[in-house]
Amino acid sequence: MERYDYGMIGLGVMGRNLLYNIADNGFSIAGFDLDGEKVKELQDGATSEMKVKGTGTMEDFVSALETPRKIILMVPAGKPVDAVLESITPLLSKGDIVIDAGNSYFKDTNRRVADLAAKNLHFMGMGVSGGEKGARTGPSIMPGGDLEAFHLIQPMLEAISAKVGDEACTAYMGKDSAGNYVKMVHNGIEYAIMQLISEAYDLLKRGANLNNDQLYQVFKEWNNGEMNSFLIEITRDIFQQKDSLTDGYLVDQILDKAGAKGTGKWTSEQAMEIGVSIPTIDIAVTSRILSAYKEERVQASQLYAEKEIASPENTELFIKEVGDALYLATLISYAQGLALLVKASEEYSFQIPLKDVVKIWRGGCIIRSVLLEKFYSAYTKDPLLSNILLDQDISLIVKEKIKSLRKTAAFAASNGISSLGIQTALGYFDAYTTESLPVNLIQAQRDYFGAHTYQRTDREGVFHTSWQTAND
Ligand code: 6PG
Repeated sequence: MERYDYGMIGLGVMGRNLLYNIADNGFSIAGFDLDGEKVKELQDGATSEMKVKGTGTMEDFVSALETPRKIILMVPAGKPVDAVLESITPLLSKGDIVIDAGNSYFKDTNRRVADLAAKNLHFMGMGVSGGEKGARTGPSIMPGGDLEAFHLIQPMLEAISAKVGDEACTAYMGKDSAGNYVKMVHNGIEYAIMQLISEAYDLLKRGANLNNDQLYQVFKEWNNGEMNSFLIEITRDIFQQKDSLTDGYLVDQILDKAGAKGTGKWTSEQAMEIGVSIPTIDIAVTSRILSAYKEERVQASQLYAEKEIASPENTELFIKEVGDALYLATLISYAQGLALLVKASEEYSFQIPLKDVVKIWRGGCIIRSVLLEKFYSAYTKDPLLSNILLDQDISLIVKEKIKSLRKTAAFAASNGISSLGIQTALGYFDAYTTESLPVNLIQAQRDYFGAHTYQRTDREGVFHTSWQTAND
């Protein structure tokens, strides 16, 4: 009986596309899905060059695989992953590897690693980014976990991943659930950049009165230069998409309530849990929540309907400044996410190689951008850099753009155009680059009302004062 190199469980669009990508690269692969229709679709869509087999039962699937078995799961995060593991683990043998390629929560992965290790099985969490198209043609792949198991699947991952030059957009992200963690933070940054782009859009649309054709041109120009990135590129294209149901553009017909599947929220919760400041990511998460209050927003906009937007004096200059502000605020969002990875790596002993993270994010993933080349150089110089804002070369970019960020934030604030992402990126930068923050006063207040103690600037130790109450 012919045995297959890999197995894929979950033949939805992502699973099927990843499976075909693996098959295109010369690996044989069997697929399984509880939905027989999907198994049939898999067979029907395979080309004659591919060595692909659809299986109808878990037993047939498992026995079709070469040992040690290498099984990829592409099923929704949460209970479905546990359900698959429950049915498949009794059929597996010592040394088999199960790789979860979904957006699983990293703590779930840690639990599953331990559960499967007790059965002499390897479990790996692996982030995959690039959407449906990326899965088919080359995603960015973030595997973590057992190093020995990783080496067994490394040649396949390098073959199927996106490439920048001849460098594969995949690398070992560290121990345990590091792969899921890195993907979670990738998504947190994704939320922040999408929020910032939407604010730039609003500023150009309501501030400078640009129509969709003009917005298309601006984003096209941005994408052709230093802002070249996947998210700017797709935004450019969105402004060109005509609506099939009306005469206008589709973007103008889309309801302004943003959805979310949870990875952004996890990133914020994590940052709070381990004490890392990522305000632009936090605000991007909460902005999506706020967007859902549509009815209240309509009511409030009528109650406070007095906003008059002053046109910028020089539209061309305004567009340039909004572009620079977006570029810098995006850079600051990456800085926050990467700083979270630095701390998480310490906290959970992941040993995340930051240099490899930015290297493999340069292609295939949703947050790919030419800016990542600069981060890659920064981490090449100093792999232990705690924050990319501390890199000399990065500081030159920041100094060049900071005025535009301030002017854009000021324009938005004075004209009542909500710009939570832009404001927090600037606020983060200002706080991070301030030698003496006013929190000495917060410490005094805490000690005043709660005897929480404070430290001094001029001597070591912990102090408490019986604060005087003023008489008058
Ligand atoms: C990717 C995406 C992918 C997915 C997000 C969307 O890297 O390919 O991040 O994982 O599109 O989960 O997340 P929301 O639905 O929460 O916006």
